[in-house]
Amino acid sequence: MSSAHLVPPFAVPTHAGAGAPAAAAGTELVRIKVWDLVVRITHWTIVVAIALLAVTGIYIGHPFLLAPGAAGTHFVMGTMKAVHSYSAIAFTLAVLARIAWAFVGSRHARWWNFVPVHRERQRGVIGTLKFYLFLRLAPPPFAGHNPVAGLTYLAVFGLYLVMILSGLGLYAMSANVASPMHWFRPLLALFWGAQNARWIHHVVMWMLIGFTVHHVYSALLVANVEKNGTLDSIFSGYKWMRRDEIAQEPLADAKKTR
Ligand code: HEM
Ligand code: HEM
Repeated sequence: MSSAHLVPPFAVPTHAGAGAPAAAAGTELVRIKVWDLVVRITHWTIVVAIALLAVTGIYIGHPFLLAPGAAGTHFVMGTMKAVHSYSAIAFTLAVLARIAWAFVGSRHARWWNFVPVHRERQRGVIGTLKFYLFLRLAPPPFAGHNPVAGLTYLAVFGLYLVMILSGLGLYAMSANVASPMHWFRPLLALFWGAQNARWIHHVVMWMLIGFTVHHVYSALLVANVEKNGTLDSIFSGYKWMRRDEIAQEPLADAKKTR
């Protein structure tokens, strides 16, 4: 899709230099803080952990490397399982920290950005879908996650929990009965037994990999079309928004976001 027809609302210079046309009143871009440090650190911890978990998990499910000699001499599977376990700890802690942060964190990190309980965000779901379907020229203004992205991330966090619960159940199977890890064994019943837990753990990995492809593609697309710094925001914490849109943003408290 060409972004040309979207240029006027989104590509207004922030600080018009000498000779540049003055921005229409209220349409200059303002730098606003959207993601605090916890959101960014948990995002990137989860991304790195998933990469390690997927590579080692694929190997655990299908050990494709053939090393000569007894397993104890090369320890390939053991190494994969150890990396899987340590990454799983980092993943679980980051997911739990992010969920807790949804209740105490900054405005754009809060749970209502994911669950559209407010009427403005419910209307925003329709408006954003219309924008995606080319039925409106500009998306409704939301500084944080747009309501459709928020709902998608809610589903992704649901998948994270499935991975954690099935993973803990699988771990408990081979944990020593004296180990506290053994206590997680009843979790397998949630997945109709160990074999189904393995299968679900495997399939959900592919769902997360599928989401990643879509997510990175749309981050690049949105960065290109909306030109509001969305892609950079997950590194820097900041996006750009038109001053008049900040005022229009549902549930906005413009002063707090600067
Ligand atoms: C997004 C995160 C994760 C991914 C992509 C992932 C991926 C995988 C895959 C593909 C397998 C092999 C399944 C099979 O085909 O048999 C596996 C096994 C396993 N995973 Fe994960 N996993 C993740 C998170 C976790 C977590 C959070 C835990 C623990 C809390 C965990 C613990 C385990 C265990 C214990 C096994 C079984 C190892 C064995 O068979 O001995 N995983 N994982
Ligand atoms: C190079 C890789 C990635 C980039 C550039 C990237 C970029 C981004 C950006 C820009 C946002 C904020 C989007 C918004 O305004 O709504 C975001 C949020 C998010 N991303 Fe990624 N992402 C990457 C990888 C991943 C992966 C692999 C996953 C999980 C499978 C993931 C899951 C999420 C989730 C759940 C959020 C919401 C964060 C929160 O509120 O805590 N991302 N990402």
